Amino acid sequence: MHEQLQRLRDDAERVVDPDMWSYLNRGSGDQRTVTEAHDAWDRYRLRPRVLRDVSHVSTELPLFGGVWRTPIGIAPTAFHAVLHPEGEVATATGAAAAGAPMVLSSRSTRRIEDVAAAVDGPWWFQVYLMRERAITAALIERAAAAGATAMVLTADTPYVGHRARTPALARPLPLGDDQALINVRDHFPEGVEDYWELIDQRADLSLGDIAWVADVCELPVIVKGVLRGDEALACIDAGADAIWVSNHGGRQLDRAISTAAALPDVVTAVGDSVPVIVDGGVRDGFDALTALALGASAVMLGRPVMWALAAEGADGVAGILDELTGELRHAMGLAGAACLGDLDPSLVSGR
Ligand code: FNR
Repeated sequence: MHEQLQRLRDDAERVVDPDMWSYLNRGSGDQRTVTEAHDAWDRYRLRPRVLRDVSHVSTELPLFGGVWRTPIGIAPTAFHAVLHPEGEVATATGAAAAGAPMVLSSRSTRRIEDVAAAVDGPWWFQVYLMRERAITAALIERAAAAGATAMVLTADTPYVGHRARTPALARPLPLGDDQALINVRDHFPEGVEDYWELIDQRADLSLGDIAWVADVCELPVIVKGVLRGDEALACIDAGADAIWVSNHGGRQLDRAISTAAALPDVVTAVGDSVPVIVDGGVRDGFDALTALALGASAVMLGRPVMWALAAEGADGVAGILDELTGELRHAMGLAGAACLGDLDPSLVSGR
């Protein structure tokens, strides 16, 4: 793990409510998948090229009509207001300062429109298919109207994985309904008693829902939570415009394989047909380089952004994105790559 990230994590632990800290960091079940995530990247080694002109190394990423200064971006994570008073607006401000891709969670605790204003550039919205489809559709439409340029459909959460085996760890978050429901409450039907039930995930989500999301907004749909090449192809057949390799930060199916191990299979199956994105356990520029060389177009951070947000707000988020991007750029140069297009799987050995 990058030194500055370790410091931000330590600082965050001192200020974050203990229940939130546990919610943020834990994986599901016996914690196998969450524990293995970073080590799985670390098992790869690099095979650098030499005598390439690396006097200018660019990390610029063009994707879905947007251009970012870095391929290291922000994965969608829930409930940022528990970590910082400005919540997702601070996260978005940090992303904008770093020129990094930002994905806003359906469980945002700031209004979608306010976050969009802070990003000041292209961003994507993450979609949980909720029990009440009309609410899901309303959120997709609002995000598109606010300027989202793609939708990220989370496919690995038909219901939430068991993240606590003891009642003490299953306590509710320190979050009021006014914040937790800020984006959805305008769309509730009359006379409902349990709002949370309406916005719970749908266990019946299926391949057909990829086209449903695309029909609602006519934007590219990225399917998040794919760990197999054959499944990636099924999603593409069903209309996916990109595949996001993820095990939800080890929070859904415990003992699911690491994303570092899954990525090559998905990239091989998908070929050049659509971009592949990856997240999970990426903690420094070398992890990012490995992922990009193995065929990812962009590499996303979940917990690291939340630690940085809690410790130092928007500056912390921008700072860690800049720091990891700097480390990536440095490593790219030493590996003989002047731009992301120079990266390929031959740079990586030792799966
Ligand atoms: C998440 N993740 C997630 N994913 C999603 O699609 N919608 C969401 O609202 C959330 N919320 C969320 C909350 C918290 C606290 C965590 C840790 C994760 C999963 C997230 O997008 C991503 O897949 C992982 O976090 C990536 O792994 P790392 O970087 O945390 O190891």
